[in-house]
Amino acid sequence: MFFWLVNKGSFTEKWRIFFDAPEDRVGHGRNGLDNLQSEKYLWLLNNEIYSSIISSGKLEENMKDKVKILAIESSCDETAAAVVENGRNVLSNVILSQIEIHKEFGGVVPEVASRKHIENINDVVEKALKDANVKLEEIDAVAVTYGPGLVGALLVGINFAKGLAYGWKKPLIAVNHIEGHINSNYIENKNLQPPFVCLVASGGHTHLVYVEDYGKYEVLGVTRDDAAGEAFDKVARALGLGYPGGPLIDKAAKAGNKKAIKFPRAIIDDESLDFSFSGLKSAVLNYLHNSQQKNEKVIIEDVAASFQEAVVEVLVMKTIKAAKQKNLKYVALAGGVASNSRLREKLQEECHKYNYEFVKPSSILCTDNAAMIGCAAYYKYMKNLFADGSLNAIPNLELAN
Ligand code: KG4
Ligand code: ZN
Repeated sequence: MFFWLVNKGSFTEKWRIFFDAPEDRVGHGRNGLDNLQSEKYLWLLNNEIYSSIISSGKLEENMKDKVKILAIESSCDETAAAVVENGRNVLSNVILSQIEIHKEFGGVVPEVASRKHIENINDVVEKALKDANVKLEEIDAVAVTYGPGLVGALLVGINFAKGLAYGWKKPLIAVNHIEGHINSNYIENKNLQPPFVCLVASGGHTHLVYVEDYGKYEVLGVTRDDAAGEAFDKVARALGLGYPGGPLIDKAAKAGNKKAIKFPRAIIDDESLDFSFSGLKSAVLNYLHNSQQKNEKVIIEDVAASFQEAVVEVLVMKTIKAAKQKNLKYVALAGGVASNSRLREKLQEECHKYNYEFVKPSSILCTDNAAMIGCAAYYKYMKNLFADGSLNAIPNLELAN
């Protein structure tokens, strides 16, 4: 028999404790036990480990050739659950968007988001299990997003996942939301393997990431101010297009002239792979303000197309620069903004020009979803990287190795 404990707090190391194992392994375990908090030690003595510590599991389970993970995502305004087999085979993917509710307020209202997650999470998880046609016994682990995101929203998913893991006696896996977005690329691109460069552009983040291996990331560049999606949302609001702005600008831009207005490209400096979008956003607002003052007609489609081109040009330029630096075969795209038609088109063109293979998730996997969390969780499962009952939300969680 085998199980493990993941210590947080004063213990950073993962202790592996073996029973019915050769003497040397038992000795190793006892050394570990000496250092454990007495409370946990008592649990062990009472032999209630399986019901007390939700990160326990059996070694043999990790050897299974079909690993099914139930994943939960609630970091922002989508309540989502999915069942994913072996990381890349999505058996179900349920996404309940709250967009219609938040539209009224022109953005996500955190308190409302948390309450809606609470109302819906049970049904969403139930549907994910039903759609996947799997029984509880077939689930090998429960995975959940623990950051970055809205703290109240994250806590709904985390506590629900903890409850399931505890009740079902399944291991719990904690996944970084940005890592989930990156991993969404594996689902439909079955040949994709690290290393590759990935541009993650969403409402809350703009990251250029070097994916060295599964679960191993180097952040090459980040936004110094607004995220790309945030800029889309703010400009859309100024244009009176509504929320969320990205898809509406994308649509309006199709009827506009991308060369009509020369908006600035924030390159920062040539060496850096960081981004900045707040200057561009201000330039659009100034343009609108000046036009209004001069009583000039504003062609919304032209503003949308010109703004979008400015964002896309910088995103693509820096992504290609990162790929050149790392000299890799694949360039990947992820996050809500990855749905943008012009971004997909231009990155495809540039990748073709420089001989990179361009991979991207379909739109449903660009938006926040739990399938991507189940995918990322699988690679953690294979490395025995489990969380325990002390798992908490980390709203500003960084992407780390
Ligand atoms: O990844 P996501 O669903 O949520 C976050 O983790 O933030 O990203 C949402 C963002 C929003 O800002 C939305 O306007 C943007 O993605 N977005 C788009 C498009 N579709 C969604 N931005 C540009 N073009 C789109 N087609
Ligand atoms: Zn996201």
